[in-house]
Amino acid sequence: MPKGCGVYRPAGAFRYNRTVNNRELSPVDRLLASANNALRTVATPAGRPARPNPAEKVGDRDLTSKQKTHAAGLMRVNHAGEIAAQALYQGHATVARDKGIESQMQQAADEEFDHLAWCEQRLEELGESPSRLAPIWYAGAFAIGAASGLLGDKWSLGFIAETERQVCDHLDSHLEGLPVDDARSRAIVETMRDEEEEHGENAVMAGAAELPAPVKRLMQITAKVMTRTAYWV
Ligand SMILES: [Fe+2]
Ligand SMILES: [Fe+2]
Repeated sequence: MPKGCGVYRPAGAFRYNRTVNNRELSPVDRLLASANNALRTVATPAGRPARPNPAEKVGDRDLTSKQKTHAAGLMRVNHAGEIAAQALYQGHATVARDKGIESQMQQAADEEFDHLAWCEQRLEELGESPSRLAPIWYAGAFAIGAASGLLGDKWSLGFIAETERQVCDHLDSHLEGLPVDDARSRAIVETMRDEEEEHGENAVMAGAAELPAPVKRLMQITAKVMTRTAYWV
């Protein structure tokens, strides 16, 4: 088991569980399942990712303490983003109508879970902890995911497509900002960036609606608050 991963959570632990023993779950059951997932996301270590950490075979180079602090700040922001990604997909799933879209969301959620675990592993290597405001990031993203889902799947997908696009921009800026010698963080962020792009493209292909410009702007402002705060706290 990787260092620091006290809880084994297999891939798919975030499955939406719409059925148990072929019985369709009621809305209350699904809400309780979401609450359970929320607690597991924010209150326990991420556990073991389903796929190897992209930094696994990347050598560790010496970083100055200033470089370490900066890299940890950026990886804490990325970890907070992955907490929000879990919540967003859970929020969508709680109210999703189309089962095909649900299974696409599930695949993305599994990859997001790996991202969460990789960021947590890197933070630990750098001697730092995830954001203490994780419950706030989760609650906010869950509410937004559920609210957009209530408007219908095409708006929910639209929200996901725009979120992933903004996340790609944000990860690009981290690739510019991370210390050049921090090859381990870079390997993780590069893999995440490729997969976020794919999530966004899949949402568009599944019928995402284009969000109105003011909504996109509001999302950028919200993301800025989160990223600036999670860097420090
Ligand atoms: Fe992600
Ligand atoms: Fe993603």
